[in-house]
Amino acid sequence: MKIDQSEPKARNLTWHDAGVTYAQRHDLNGHKSCVIWFTGLSGSGKSTLANRLDAALHARNVRSYVLDGDNLRHGLNRDLGFSPEDRKENIRRVGEAAKLLADAGLVVITAFISPYRSDRDAVRGLFNHGEFVETWLDCSLETCRQRDPKGLYKKADAGEIADFTGVSAPYETPLKPEITINGDQLSEEEAVNVILSWLLERGVIS
Ligand code: ADX
Repeated sequence: MKIDQSEPKARNLTWHDAGVTYAQRHDLNGHKSCVIWFTGLSGSGKSTLANRLDAALHARNVRSYVLDGDNLRHGLNRDLGFSPEDRKENIRRVGEAAKLLADAGLVVITAFISPYRSDRDAVRGLFNHGEFVETWLDCSLETCRQRDPKGLYKKADAGEIADFTGVSAPYETPLKPEITINGDQLSEEEAVNVILSWLLERGVIS
């Protein structure tokens, strides 16, 4: 695991090494760990795809787990809203949580809009090369608006939701994502297969 070298607020801390190594966990599981970091507009299908991928991995005896934006905002991140600062803290916490789960040996799947490049890059910096798989669900705003599964675009257009991504808050597209899924064209099954192939080709799973 990559250890954060920046100074924490607290002093007099001692790092305790784990009794079970990363390699031992991987041997036990039969696969490596990583984080599949979905990013994309609200309504682009992140949560649906994350859960389909989770099920597909589970069926292949891969230990995986989904961290979902809407869900974590009910608990760990319930004190956060949608200002740039709150989103930054949201993504920072999720990044740290994902790092712990990956260190425990899981294939972690996250579903957060994560609209700011700097926030995503900060999470990337928590992981070793190859462990952070930025996966852009590239879906046009028109398609997301048409789907509008939670009726949020309608509310945002009516001025009932402030700072809504794609309407009154920005979405910064990834510049060099490991995987790009064309959400306007690929079916869910095709998208899952693209990601499974990526994991197989890199030897994360077998
Ligand atoms: S993030 O920008 O901080 O990554 P996150 O993924 O946790 O966002 O939460 C996004 C979800 O919160 C959306 O799918 C939507 O259901 C809901 N939501 C509520 N208000 C907003 C808003 N202003 N902008 C975006 N999503 C919102």
